[in-house]
Amino acid sequence: MIRVDHAGEFGALRIYEGQLAVLDRNPVPSENVQAIRRMAAQEQKHFDTFDRMVKERAVRPTALEPVWRAAGFALGAATALMGEKAAMACTVAVEDVIDEHYAKQIERLGADEPELKTAIQKFHAEECAHRDEALERGASEAAGYALLSGVIRFSCRVAIALSERL
Ligand SMILES: [Fe+2]
Ligand SMILES: [Fe+2]
Repeated sequence: MIRVDHAGEFGALRIYEGQLAVLDRNPVPSENVQAIRRMAAQEQKHFDTFDRMVKERAVRPTALEPVWRAAGFALGAATALMGEKAAMACTVAVEDVIDEHYAKQIERLGADEPELKTAIQKFHAEECAHRDEALERGASEAAGYALLSGVIRFSCRVAIALSERL
């Protein structure tokens, strides 16, 4: 669980880095850019928590780190190039998959893992808040929303399945 969550939060950070590399170019950041920065700051905390757990518990990190490093950034940059609404659509698709993923983990975790369970419960709520905010920011009005969303959801599911194993 810690391996895949560590990988996923790293991927999330890279997505937002890619989006900000494209969109964060004005002296006065747009409201969407400010929102992305706030989300990225939370992803950093999520990542830091799992990164600490990886070290404390000697969890082998995913072997796919270089893939998520490149693919996360590329996904963020590509959606941002399609526009701010497409960038928001990316967040909705990713967070929807993460919502399911964290909900399943919370269900599986018992009372013997209070630290991990509490962390995942907190992050789960924050990921759902990211999705809701991205929807409010017009995600579903992005051109080609259904296709874009479907492709990103599928990719996230594959990434999760791979990082659980590798
Ligand atoms: Fe996160
Ligand atoms: Fe998130």
